[in-house]
Amino acid sequence: MPIQYDQKEQVFMLQTPKTSYVLGVYEGKYLLHLYYGKRIERYAAMQHRLPTHGINGFSATDVEESKYSTNVLPMEFPCYGSADYRSPAFHAEYEDGSAVTKLFYQGYHIESGKKPLCGLPATYAENELEAETLEITLKDAVTGLVVVLSYTVFNSFDAIAKSVRVQNGGDQTINIKSLLSSTSYLFDKDYEFVHLAGAWARERHIQKQPLQNSTILIDSKRVSSSHMHSPFMALARPYTTETQGDVYGCSLIYSGNFIARAETSELDTVRLSIGINPFGFGWCLNPGEEFQAPEAVLVYAANGFGEMSRTYHKLYRTRLCRGKFRDAERPVLINNWEATYFDFNEEKILDIAKSAKKLGMELLVLDDGWFGKRDSDNCSLGDWVTDRRKLPDGIDGLAKKVTALGMQFGLWFEPECISEDSDLYRAHPDWAIQIPGRQPNRSRYQLILDMGREDVRDYLYERMTAILDSANIEYVKWDMNRHISDVYSAVLPKERQGEASHRYMLGLYDLLERLVSRYPDLLLEGCSGGGGRFDLGMLYYSPQIWCSDDTDAVERLSVQYGTSFCYPISAVGSHVSAVPNHQTGRITPVETRGTVAMAGSFGYELDLNLLSDGEKEEVKEQIKTFKKYYNLTHEGEYYRLTNPMENRLYAAWEFVSQDQSEALVHGMQILAQPSGPSIHIPVRGLKADAMYEVNGELVRSGRALMHGGLNFPRQTGDFKAVEFYLKEVK
Ligand code: DGJ
Repeated sequence: MPIQYDQKEQVFMLQTPKTSYVLGVYEGKYLLHLYYGKRIERYAAMQHRLPTHGINGFSATDVEESKYSTNVLPMEFPCYGSADYRSPAFHAEYEDGSAVTKLFYQGYHIESGKKPLCGLPATYAENELEAETLEITLKDAVTGLVVVLSYTVFNSFDAIAKSVRVQNGGDQTINIKSLLSSTSYLFDKDYEFVHLAGAWARERHIQKQPLQNSTILIDSKRVSSSHMHSPFMALARPYTTETQGDVYGCSLIYSGNFIARAETSELDTVRLSIGINPFGFGWCLNPGEEFQAPEAVLVYAANGFGEMSRTYHKLYRTRLCRGKFRDAERPVLINNWEATYFDFNEEKILDIAKSAKKLGMELLVLDDGWFGKRDSDNCSLGDWVTDRRKLPDGIDGLAKKVTALGMQFGLWFEPECISEDSDLYRAHPDWAIQIPGRQPNRSRYQLILDMGREDVRDYLYERMTAILDSANIEYVKWDMNRHISDVYSAVLPKERQGEASHRYMLGLYDLLERLVSRYPDLLLEGCSGGGGRFDLGMLYYSPQIWCSDDTDAVERLSVQYGTSFCYPISAVGSHVSAVPNHQTGRITPVETRGTVAMAGSFGYELDLNLLSDGEKEEVKEQIKTFKKYYNLTHEGEYYRLTNPMENRLYAAWEFVSQDQSEALVHGMQILAQPSGPSIHIPVRGLKADAMYEVNGELVRSGRALMHGGLNFPRQTGDFKAVEFYLKEVK
């Protein structure tokens, strides 16, 4: 039983194969976070987690007889007003204008399996035996507010999925101002805060900073998880490496405004919180209503960042991603965007498809510009009607011709946006998010549709299904090219405007759910100006997401390195593009671009006719290689062997099959060095006592390879690809 309750001690033990998460009910009413870390079999002495300092004049208690202030207790679900001065998980305002909530333990319930989260993406269990869920109920006696904390423990993942449901059991409207999904604790502050930060075309670069007696937070107020921050943080002991050190990962399955925060108290304990960003948030909960907060997933790893990442990868790849393409092999695609931008016609697209087919590509993706009168990015979003000037036989005709070549056909949409120069805007200006009497903020000449509105979603559903039903479309790229900066909803009253950004997300998820249910075989790829919404919320609907608009092989090393801390390799949309690279101007060999792009959902995005005959042959071979190693790269265990943020000379990464009988080490000599020292890259994840053949030759033991390493070849010239294939010999 992964979840046990010790009635005498009033302690809940949540056991994953290698970790334990322990909660206790103190003084019969406070729910405390007692322990999270390496698996322990018993937890009896709750006193160990109580602070050595009790109460003084500056730490209030909420009831007189308490020995401790809630301000020093590890409150599992801290509320504003409960005498805890730290940042709360819950803050609400009541009809009398007061904002105090005191939640006391009521009871618990344990059941097999895992229920879906109403209206929100979440991890799932495929059957009742895979997981167990604990629900703990807390209640505020004065207002009747009930909070249900939910914890799912998976039998085969070292992860805890947490979420919170709030029910208004009283008779007044409750104005929720803040409701976070997870609070947990570290019991000293000797940790580094690790997170993923970036910008457009430079997403998810790893960053680390030590904790001090302060609050470190990352967030998004863009109604999108954003290029700038990712809804993920990890707290690691200083000097933690890929293979050693304690790491606590915390991620949120949500695509909108979020906050991830580490707050160090005066007693050096650290409160970790993640959830919807309280900034600008509000939710009016009427009597009898319920609000569901997004799911957070916690992973503790005793053996460094690599172990944490591999746990996240496997869980998200197999129990967050859904649909046919969770498991089915994804096609190698060719996307026309960087080949043509808006300047294409049917002939050009067919020409690309023909060349692509000859080289072994399987799916032609027609990107932006096929609808309305979209010759540039300043018009037509919302007018999802084929532009017959470019495609005289329509999408249907083009799809038939592409299919006749033996290729699959895929199409780009940007459903959430609307151009002011569009028939849709002329008919429904009120559907765009804008505040009456104010000029809306503009970005890429486009406004955003209010996805919280049912009529907007119905229109998009009707338009998209009309197109998807009219042709053989097997893939959709769902793009979103700006963030919301002036949130407002014309259909919400004044007191509910704080709901607009979360309602937007619920609306987006609702539309995505309707589409994936109607087209279970459709491969959906998420995108937001590259990786502006590369998050777990979107991964629930689209098993791959375009990782960055920067396709330069060297820049991608850092982007893909950071992304892999939380997100599975199979999620990373990654293409070979033209050189000089359109974003950096850098020239790298096609072999190297292919090697880097293979650490993801692979494709091409360039004018194939500009490749030399030699390069075309290389591309053919590259596709064969990718297919040969598909299972390794998409389902294998991923190991980061070097850190490209620190090592600018060479990079290496590795995929190991689940049975450890095969491994693929890929890498790049970034900069050539005369008389450079020899480089030995220790590989990981092999069977120590097994013998492996390296590139069909040399046979060495797993132990020798893991300790002695592979000899990284020194080559003349920058940006040279490296590949080692290791196979167990029996
Ligand atoms: C941004 C995406 O990241 C690109 O790949 C491309 O689809 C453009 N949008 C099209 O506008």
